[in-house]
Amino acid sequence: MSVSRSSKFNDKKVTTLRLKEMKKAGVRISCLTAYDYTIAKIIDSSGIDLILVGDSLGNVIQGNETTISVTIEDIIYHTKAVVKASERALVVADMPFMSYQVSGNQAFRNAGRIMKETNCSAVKLEGGGVVCEAVARMTDAGIPVMGHLGLTPQKINHFGSYRARGTDKDEADNIKEDALRLQDAGAFAIVFEKIPAELGQEITESLEIPTIGIGAGPHCDGQILVYTDMLGLTIDFNPRFVRKYADLNKNIHDSVSQYINDIKIKDFPNDDESY
Ligand code: KIV
Repeated sequence: MSVSRSSKFNDKKVTTLRLKEMKKAGVRISCLTAYDYTIAKIIDSSGIDLILVGDSLGNVIQGNETTISVTIEDIIYHTKAVVKASERALVVADMPFMSYQVSGNQAFRNAGRIMKETNCSAVKLEGGGVVCEAVARMTDAGIPVMGHLGLTPQKINHFGSYRARGTDKDEADNIKEDALRLQDAGAFAIVFEKIPAELGQEITESLEIPTIGIGAGPHCDGQILVYTDMLGLTIDFNPRFVRKYADLNKNIHDSVSQYINDIKIKDFPNDDESY
């Protein structure tokens, strides 16, 4: 089923307010990551609602095992490029590990710096409880904040694994409590990563702000995936929550092999491709 292009939610620049209206109207929110101008341009012109410049760039762009070493400078560099390409989507920049956990002041200053230097529309940070004070200050100052609960990859060295979260009652209760606290602090939406679908549904129904799932089941108000996963560029990462919509890895591989072959057999460039 495709979505009508004339819906009031399809035109004009997406705002945080629009996302809340979409939740109210039961219109699902589509989100993807992007890290550079060319890909962001394609994703934005396809009609995506939100583009996240995720710290997953540490994995898919920089080739690291974790997101821990991503810096504010990395996020600023990539977000600038994505913002230039995005005419319609709301662009959200991830706050990297240790750019907001030290104190409310540090979080506030770094979020402000990211917004000013990149012109993005919002920031995202991981965790509940302790970050709520920072979220309240940022929101108050006009910096829209997206939360991120469930599996929070910046805590990989604490948890030691990327297993699903909220699978037992205590963990599920903590996630529910953190979600309410983030909402009270002013977050405009929350990403839920790798939690049971039932918990995703319960939280979605209990919050006024949109829930964006990644491995959090079909009941969330929106969905997000890392673009390299859903386009089949990544070959060594296959969690069940990723649906592959293309096999770009094979496509690029075949195209590059063809290019190499054409050079070797002296077919490229031909007369039409020469001056
Ligand atoms: O960094 C990222 O790409 C993310 C998404 C997986 C939600 O946080």
